[in-house]
Amino acid sequence: MHTRNNSTDKDVTVTGPTPTRDDKFSFGLWTVGYNGTDPFGGPTREHLDTVHVVEKLAELGAYGLTFHDDDLFPFGSTDEVRQTEIERLKQALADTGLIIPMVTTNLFSAPVFKDGGFTSNDRAVRRFALRKVLRNIDLAAELGAKTFVMWGGREGAEYDAAKDIRAALERYREAVNLLGDYVTDKGYDLRFAIEPKPNEPRGDILLPTLGHALAFIETLERPELVGINPEVGHEQMAGLNFAAGIAQALYQGKLFHIDLNGQRGIKYDQDLVFAHGDLYNAFALVDLLENGSPAGGPTYDGPRHFDYKPSRTEDETGVWESAKANMANYLILKERAAAFRADPEVQEALEAAKVTELGKPTLNEGESYDDLLADRSAFEDFDASAYLGGKGFGFVRLQQLATEHLLGARG
Ligand code: GCO
Ligand code: MN
Ligand code: MN
Repeated sequence: MHTRNNSTDKDVTVTGPTPTRDDKFSFGLWTVGYNGTDPFGGPTREHLDTVHVVEKLAELGAYGLTFHDDDLFPFGSTDEVRQTEIERLKQALADTGLIIPMVTTNLFSAPVFKDGGFTSNDRAVRRFALRKVLRNIDLAAELGAKTFVMWGGREGAEYDAAKDIRAALERYREAVNLLGDYVTDKGYDLRFAIEPKPNEPRGDILLPTLGHALAFIETLERPELVGINPEVGHEQMAGLNFAAGIAQALYQGKLFHIDLNGQRGIKYDQDLVFAHGDLYNAFALVDLLENGSPAGGPTYDGPRHFDYKPSRTEDETGVWESAKANMANYLILKERAAAFRADPEVQEALEAAKVTELGKPTLNEGESYDDLLADRSAFEDFDASAYLGGKGFGFVRLQQLATEHLLGARG
């Protein structure tokens, strides 16, 4: 159980359960570090230094920091600058106890990547991208990261004639296969997580949804090394149900990492605070991650990683307010989900709605299709007409119970 924190800290006023390191909350350096720049205007905040970010996150109860190479040392840095920044980060980690659970590579900001990295039409760019990633994998291993995220934001196109999608997928495959060989040969304890997104910055991005990514992974030479890093807003930008997608990722053993944030409908990538978008789906998600399916099944043990952008309207106080809000919302939803599961009326409603019956195989043990064909009760004597005006499932009642728990209207 988490204690309530009615913080008197004058800078950060968000209240709610207090996070601890055991909650495994992590933040991207580029998230709290976002300075507010968008396609329509420049920064609204000053740059935040890495050491300051590490100290603040540790103070707020996070356990991890993640970063792109270019977040830590600017693209094109000399080896000396790069090393200085790495050493400063290492010292800050040693001072605070924060860890680096995940590292990722920026293959999207520099002009060289305007047509992508692994799948640029320009072969020299593809070779450069691979070198940039290999170098960053060494750094990830050095810092003890367990997951290496690959978000291919510029792997895509605006125009159908401009990109041979099959060739692009083949190049993507070539790249990931090479990286798999590399970590295996080096003996690194590192797995890859592909992060899908339907569009932005490209008109259309390759592997646009988690389903596309899951299918792609099966074509790889070392599929066991590669999973996914789905982001709430990215699936919702495509109008998809995030919690349902996560259930499939868990089912397939492929939820290697997760990007939590908020999104309101099918529009640009909002990267809002977690639960500041589709609250119902956030509730279902936390319930799933923490408690598994109604009949049990795998839960998620990895980092609860926030990939959000503090709003452009905020100053630094608002940055830390929003960092805190992400964690508080997760923990509040965790409490609500636990109460939902523990409520006898919910259990009874789940039973009545046959939610648990879905866990029962459709055929009896050892039953063949001949046995099924011989079973008159399954067809000839089955009363399908009883479903007109009867046998309602009671899903609405269940949803209302979820609503009351979510709103804190029930124990
Ligand atoms: C986005 C993406 C990125 C990636 C990150 C990891 O909002 O479009 O989430 O932020 O997660 O770059 O590589
Ligand atoms: Mn996003
Ligand atoms: Mn993300």
